[in-house]
Amino acid sequence: MTFLFNSDAKRGAIFAEAFSRELPDVPFVTDAAAVDPDAVRYLITWTVPEDLSRYRNLEILFSIGAGVDQFRIEAVPPHVKVVRMVEDGIIRMMQEYVTLAVLALHRNLPAYLDHQRSQHWQAIYQVQASERRICVLGLGMLGTAVLERLRPFGFSLSGWSRSAHELEGVRCLHGADGLDNLLADTDILICLIPLTDETRGFLDAALFAKLPTGAALVHVGRGPQLDHQALLDALDSGHLSGAVIDVTDPEPLPADHAIWRHSKVLLTPHIASVTQPETAARAVIENIRRHRSGLEPVGLVDRGRGY
Ligand code: GLV
Repeated sequence: MTFLFNSDAKRGAIFAEAFSRELPDVPFVTDAAAVDPDAVRYLITWTVPEDLSRYRNLEILFSIGAGVDQFRIEAVPPHVKVVRMVEDGIIRMMQEYVTLAVLALHRNLPAYLDHQRSQHWQAIYQVQASERRICVLGLGMLGTAVLERLRPFGFSLSGWSRSAHELEGVRCLHGADGLDNLLADTDILICLIPLTDETRGFLDAALFAKLPTGAALVHVGRGPQLDHQALLDALDSGHLSGAVIDVTDPEPLPADHAIWRHSKVLLTPHIASVTQPETAARAVIENIRRHRSGLEPVGLVDRGRGY
């Protein structure tokens, strides 16, 4: 019942140490060439290896990251459980990043950075937090955790998801009608939905047009969800006031792409949230324990939904 680890050596060393302490009866292997493929029951990786079919007894395929859109899930045999990374480090980092982004937009940081570059000393009228309407797209574990972290600032909070959710103190709507209603009442929109066929190109001109003039975007989902030109058009026309973008398509953007230099955009290189090996090892070990005692692993992917 071997666990095969396919990621970088630094993380591997931390995982190996945790496995030897917590699950000493599960052999932990980092060298795929040295393993008996029939012994492999668990595999953790970022992308699915071409030769996945050699692991005939595979039971769980773990993603090393929060998303599984990089997997060709249709190539994974149906009896293999596919599991997203749900771990405290990823959640905490996403909370930090979105808080940073929301506060930067709320306090007009892009404009002040621009003013600084032109030595322009001028206060901008400051909207108070209670008047700032924040909407999170995607109420999974990350979206929910982000809303929790934003709560103490006193923003007006709302959330949207495919299916109905209830969160205390958050206006939660779902479905297409719910989305239109929420967008009309949103000043800062945070995209935290998974990438699926349905969400490719989700952040497009039609969606931006439903936001009030002066709204802003925080994009921490996946690059292909954003129509980059539609964002630039909305920023240039003044309809949107700013954007904090952590994911693009492609990554990185070509050197001459206007997003790099846009004064209303803060751009970071897909660093909002990164799997932390100590907490991730703990989460994976806990999931193997759950699996062995007949429970579903936390983060089990619903293949029909794609996340
Ligand atoms: C990062 O984007 C991840 O999926 O963990």
